[in-house]
Amino acid sequence: MSEFHEPVLLAKSLDGLNVKAKGTYVDVTFGGGGHSRAILNSLLGGLLISFDQDDEAIKNKIIDDNRFIMVNQNFRYLREQLKRLNIYRIDGLIADLGVSSYHFTDNGRGFSLKYDAPVDMRMDQKLETNGAHILNNYSANHLMRIFKEHSDFNAPQPIVNLIIKFREQRPINTIFDFKKIFQGFVSDRHQNKFFARLFQAVRIEVNDEINALKELLAQSLELLKPSGRLVIISYHSIEDKIVKRFMRFGNFSGVPKKDFFGNHSQPFKIITKKPIVPSREEVQLNNKSRSAKLRIAEKL
Ligand SMILES: C[S@@+](CC[C@H](N)C(=O)[O-])C[C@H]1O[C@@H](n2cnc3c(N)ncnc32)[C@H](O)[C@@H]1O
Repeated sequence: MSEFHEPVLLAKSLDGLNVKAKGTYVDVTFGGGGHSRAILNSLLGGLLISFDQDDEAIKNKIIDDNRFIMVNQNFRYLREQLKRLNIYRIDGLIADLGVSSYHFTDNGRGFSLKYDAPVDMRMDQKLETNGAHILNNYSANHLMRIFKEHSDFNAPQPIVNLIIKFREQRPINTIFDFKKIFQGFVSDRHQNKFFARLFQAVRIEVNDEINALKELLAQSLELLKPSGRLVIISYHSIEDKIVKRFMRFGNFSGVPKKDFFGNHSQPFKIITKKPIVPSREEVQLNNKSRSAKLRIAEKL
């Protein structure tokens, strides 16, 4: 297993991308480079451009290979960055969303419950807002919204009340401060799940993950050639719903657009009617893959 990140659903996602040897492909979430390396194995005369916003992931970049270009940017700047490289059309795009295993095992980044690091949670270390800033400064209403929208807590008021009460006494600086706020709030049995949801909400807000995903998808529609493939692996229901709607309707509202004649305009042929999930064997080997959902669509 790669120490940085073990690629999830590697064979199925590569199948889905349907790599043509001379094609131009984009991997917008390079991480440890597992998916990127597999794409390169199929390229002969083609090109792969990989993005990552995290400086540590950039250190894994593939060197001495003129089929490969690494871009250290948020994937929300996809179109602009490709234009800089004189690329206007692509044959396929893959996104393996969220953070990598490295983020959880590095004890200083604030992604893991286990280490008493500052509540940071930024993938891009140049971002101004980190998790501590959000917890210490967001209004009660704003906190309510992020716990509802990013983690599906139906009634987050008690959670927000505890945060506000704690921060009136002293700032929330570290992960263990954050955990202390909720001492006795949930039973030991439910703690891990509860904190995973709380952390997810804060992390999504810090990195503006939902907006970045929507911007990426909208740009992919313009950039993909007809028959080009869009391959997305997501890890929670909020992302998966966005991807599913976008593949079906080309928008995020879930309402199909109609053309002049009243026909539904469909931007993609859906290749995966239901999302592909990892096999039991894969989950056994790599527990972090357990919530993965892979969706594939082909540009019409
Ligand atoms: C799940 S990992 C990808 C792992 C990769 N497929 C592999 O095989 O190693 C996600 C990676 O995407 C990066 N990432 C997440 N959101 C991003 C965004 N909006 N822009 C650029 N990189 C992003 C993270 O920094 C992380 O390294």
